[in-house]
Amino acid sequence: MDLSGKNVVLGVSGGIAAYKAVEVCRRLVDAGAHVAPILTPAALKFVGAATFSALASEPALTSLWDDAADPIPHTRLGQAADLVLVVPATARLIGSYAAGISSDLLTATLLATRAPVMICPAMHTEMWEHAAVQHNLRVLRERGVHVVEPAEGRLAGGDVGAGRLASPDVIVAAATEVLIPSQGNPALDRPLLGLDVLVTAGGTREPIDPVRFIGNRSSGKQGHALAEEALARGATVTLVTTTDRPVPAGIERVRVDTAAEMRDAVLSRADHLDVVVMAAAVADFRPTEVAGNKLKKADGVPVVALEPTADILAELGASRRPGQTLVGFAAETSEVAAHAADKLTRKGADLVVANDVSAPHTGFEHDTNAVLILTASGSRTDVPLSDKRAVARAVLDAVVAERSRPEPLRAPSDNPSTRSST
Ligand code: CTP
Repeated sequence: MDLSGKNVVLGVSGGIAAYKAVEVCRRLVDAGAHVAPILTPAALKFVGAATFSALASEPALTSLWDDAADPIPHTRLGQAADLVLVVPATARLIGSYAAGISSDLLTATLLATRAPVMICPAMHTEMWEHAAVQHNLRVLRERGVHVVEPAEGRLAGGDVGAGRLASPDVIVAAATEVLIPSQGNPALDRPLLGLDVLVTAGGTREPIDPVRFIGNRSSGKQGHALAEEALARGATVTLVTTTDRPVPAGIERVRVDTAAEMRDAVLSRADHLDVVVMAAAVADFRPTEVAGNKLKKADGVPVVALEPTADILAELGASRRPGQTLVGFAAETSEVAAHAADKLTRKGADLVVANDVSAPHTGFEHDTNAVLILTASGSRTDVPLSDKRAVARAVLDAVVAERSRPEPLRAPSDNPSTRSST
């Protein structure tokens, strides 16, 4: 993507992930952007200003008082910027910005700019999950600040969890989307305005006894990205999720565990929904009986009898109301297109989003995904490996395109697959 003529202020705050901002800087410059780096005093504990000065389009600034000839660098930079991008954004930076406190050149610039702002948080899991940090992020999101979610993975000190800075690839792609929006037409910016959209996310857990369950590897990241993108496009969004991932203000979150709870949450709302996106990995089977007490090893190896769960998507397909759009997901390990086409017709969906979960960096637990979108009207879109928010954009683009077509000639009773086994 050509970013020539685009001015990016690259803010770097003080966390170990600051070294990755060097790569982001280089890539933005390579793409043609004019990059002006600002390092906070704490960032200088991790990386040197000289590195950024050498790679960026102008010398790195580290203080309001660097240059006597330029007494107001924060307003100069803030006014010229097409994007202020903060990589990494520490808990302290996020807190200062949310509270409107200007304590250094970077926070002063954030308050002085009217340009879009994108922050890329990175911190230890405990800090990331702290109620104060999540509150500050909600405040910033409500003000229109773009947040590039951190990934899960290895953190400084060897801990593993949420809070790792998103990869430079993801950050540069997200920044590019803000600088050169693929949906540049304002009339198309909120194409889901006025629509009720429900998204399911995560993997259901079917209890065996009070401590054990049958589950799957779904992390909920793709479903949450879909809900956030639907909100950004103007929809009224309900997210039925099995995870405790934070959700932006404005999304109604319904927390469920089992397939039966998910079914109740979805079907009880189905009558007024315009779009249902079944991104969750719903268990196909559940234990016939749930032991009241923990199964003890001394009692021998248990035999767990299973029964099918109800297929929520197929039920929706069989009882859909006119104008309702149903999106199914298909996590496959072979013959992806054939299985997806089968699920499209068998479940009565309008779109199926399929992926090969055995491919590298794809599907469960990853931050990236590569999918094939098939529609009942016969279109086929390949979305190459991208971050899950970009996949969400592609899915919702396909939903919008499908909804603009005439209603398909499909009677609910034509659907042969409806199971009602629970
Ligand atoms: N799904 C559902 N209810 C279920 C199982 C699945 O609504 N009990 C939805 C999923 O959310 C997904 C789609 O159906 O959108 C496909 O799920 P999948 O498990 O791949 O479909 P199955 O028909 O169970 O096929 P498979 O034999 O591949 O498991």
